[in-house]
Amino acid sequence: MVDVRVIGPGEASSDLVAVGLVAVAGADGPELSIGTDVASVGLDEPPVPAALRRPGFAAKAGQSLVLRSAGGGPDVVVVGLGPVEGLDHERWRKAAAALVRATGGPGSAALVLPEPLCGGDPQAVGAAIAEGAALAAYRFDDYKSTPRPSAVDGLLVVDPTQGSSALADGIARGMRTAAAVAFARDLINTPAGDLAPAQLAERFVAEMAGTARTSVEVWDEERIAAERLGGLLGVSRGSLEPPRLVRATYEPAEPVSIGGTTPHVVLVGKGITFDSGGLSLKTAEGMSTMKTDMSGAAIVMAALSACADLGVRIKVTAIAPIAENMPGARALKPGDVLTMRNGATVEVLNTDAEGRLVLADALSLAGEIEPAPDAVVDVATLTGAAAVALGTGIAPLYGTDPELVERIRQAGASVGERLWPMPLPEDYAEHIDSEVADMKNTGRAGQAGSIAAALLLERFTSGLAWAHLDIAGTGRAAETSGYLTKGGTAFGVRTLLALVSSYC
Ligand code: BES
Ligand code: MN
Ligand code: ZN
Repeated sequence: MVDVRVIGPGEASSDLVAVGLVAVAGADGPELSIGTDVASVGLDEPPVPAALRRPGFAAKAGQSLVLRSAGGGPDVVVVGLGPVEGLDHERWRKAAAALVRATGGPGSAALVLPEPLCGGDPQAVGAAIAEGAALAAYRFDDYKSTPRPSAVDGLLVVDPTQGSSALADGIARGMRTAAAVAFARDLINTPAGDLAPAQLAERFVAEMAGTARTSVEVWDEERIAAERLGGLLGVSRGSLEPPRLVRATYEPAEPVSIGGTTPHVVLVGKGITFDSGGLSLKTAEGMSTMKTDMSGAAIVMAALSACADLGVRIKVTAIAPIAENMPGARALKPGDVLTMRNGATVEVLNTDAEGRLVLADALSLAGEIEPAPDAVVDVATLTGAAAVALGTGIAPLYGTDPELVERIRQAGASVGERLWPMPLPEDYAEHIDSEVADMKNTGRAGQAGSIAAALLLERFTSGLAWAHLDIAGTGRAAETSGYLTKGGTAFGVRTLLALVSSYC
């Protein structure tokens, strides 16, 4: 991962491969926005304004313009921030990502920040720059004989706010957050053949073992059966790989007290290590990306693992039900009825609607925690319908508590993960009515599929304040762009970290 750190003017190392300068979109085109002495980063003088007027470069956020150095010095990479009005952290993330993408490694690049610093307080800008740079530099090359050319290995942020530690603090937080995202992305991108439920559980245990104030417990198949997790057991029946349930807990060192108690947030993540659809088999095309169906589990565990380093002040629990959905000889058959953890019965009319079955049991467990948690939030690659409704850039957000939903929406907005509130209409309950059981695991063909799944989950939330993120659309990037790399995005890690950091 690229190392991002702050330096003062004049401290820049001599072997820079690039110097990033920031441009804003002005009324007459791109305008450089720099205040620091550029000589300190090895430039004789800043580029003349005319040099920025190139077709196609409007200094939009995420655009870059490379001005090759003539005399062997570092290249100058001008990165756009867009107009100064309305400058937000997301544009800083995109600008930092654009600098990393325009600059190949090995070696370091410097980023000269404008003075005064625009677009928010220095800590938040520092975090955004570190996140954008570190995430853009993310590669998954574990299976490449010859790894792809690496991004720059260092980004030196030339600090105009001399003396304040806010920028450096923000960068450290951004780096830790990006490391959590990379942990989740690595697991999501790992082939299912190398990451069966037991192996995924072991990876979580190993990660938590190195984490302060965090404990972890794994239930094996026998325990899962003894605990009557009918949904999780049912889904795993068609596979030779036994299921697991992982539960990890973080206890804050300096708990915040709100109304005399410390808030407790429970995170639940769908952990289907491979979704073939089961006997309701997917097409070859449909299952080609289904190693990513454990994204929710990776996301909640990644968020939990970063709580200690980020100084989160509330109690956080993460629960991941983990199974492989396969069409083996003992597989669930369409029409089978499962008795779930809470005693409710579910008719399985489509074995490919497996996520809601494993999540339902995990949500029941969350509801049994005493004292009752203040919020339960689940994250799941749940329905193709989520992508149909909102595409790959925005995730549907559901919930039973308007305050919690709004808190999560704002957390998402603050980190550039867009969430859109969706309804849980009471009269749509009939979409999941079953002839034979308490409910069925499918909705109505072609209608509100993401809502039907959410309505089923709601029945297992024990009346708690609950929210649900359907990341089937946002969980995978079809192309490398900005700070996303083709493959698993781990969308939700940064929202969850912003959420658990928002209580103080
Ligand atoms: N894991 C899939 C959802 C999915 C689809 C995630 C595409 C990412 C990309 C989920 O288990 C599933 O198969 N859902 C079905 C539900 C249907 C059978 C009611 C779907 O969306 O088609
Ligand atoms: Mn499925
Ligand atoms: Zn699935």
